[in-house]
Amino acid sequence: MSDTTQSQPARPLEGKAALVTGASRGIGRAIAVHLAELGARVACVATRVENAEPTASACADLTDGARAYGVDVADHGAVADLVKQVGGDLGGIDILVNNAGITRDQLLMRMSEDDFDSVINVNLKGTWNFVKAAARPLMKAGSGRIINIASVVGVTGNAGQANYAASKAGVIGLTRSAAKELSGRGVAVNAIAPGFIETDMTSEIPENERAKLVSAIPLSRMGASEEIAAAVGFLAGPGGAYITGQTLIVDGGLSL
Ligand code: NAI
Repeated sequence: MSDTTQSQPARPLEGKAALVTGASRGIGRAIAVHLAELGARVACVATRVENAEPTASACADLTDGARAYGVDVADHGAVADLVKQVGGDLGGIDILVNNAGITRDQLLMRMSEDDFDSVINVNLKGTWNFVKAAARPLMKAGSGRIINIASVVGVTGNAGQANYAASKAGVIGLTRSAAKELSGRGVAVNAIAPGFIETDMTSEIPENERAKLVSAIPLSRMGASEEIAAAVGFLAGPGGAYITGQTLIVDGGLSL
């Protein structure tokens, strides 16, 4: 083990409070559990509180102060109320991770207005709802981290995902703008753009398409949720202190 590794505290997020959306499963669950491993108190948010409870209980095995909450991230007023409630329950919010997201894939010509609106409302407006609600308390505290989960297709575009790619490109623009507004008050804002990650979201892709996708990935495999969680842990911890407004692509080289 190198000296640099030895000098890192084992639980660098001890004393910090984190809120993670979309924490019931997949990448969001892995992020919540990893932040708990690093010592943070974690508010696990899902559409319904009972869906977030198993994650909160996994976090509670690792750290004090894990709790479950339910909200529709697209509901502006409900998100504002929830952020106040979590701040009260956990004694503030130091780390906000906007992970909740949906897909409604369809070729542009066949995509319905509802397919477009619902993806923008959850992925982009949902992220903005939380950034707006948390901005004031984070700025008042004079420190904090916001990490938004975008997607590599927000950078590259993707056939059949015009709504999703637009929402994720929007998340990247929102991240950069929020970084410019909030960094002067000590709040770093970054995005992570995952590639092709093994979760429920990608489980329905037919085997032949999956093989084609994997063959286009230089590291020759799909990513794991834990690999996205590790990047979140880095940006939320001491290593991320001087990084803001960036989009960290974690895609096994897919977008090269
Ligand atoms: P998933 O479908 O397994 O989980 C999504 C989570 O978001 C669930 O907990 C769900 O309850 C929550 N959610 C959905 N709509 C919500 C709403 N209106 N209000 C509150 N919560 C809501 O998805 P996965 O794969 O874990 O993805 C997580 C994030 O990572 C998403 O933002 C997704 O777009 C992004 N991503 C995933 C990739 C992948 O290959 N799986 C690739 C690139 C980005």
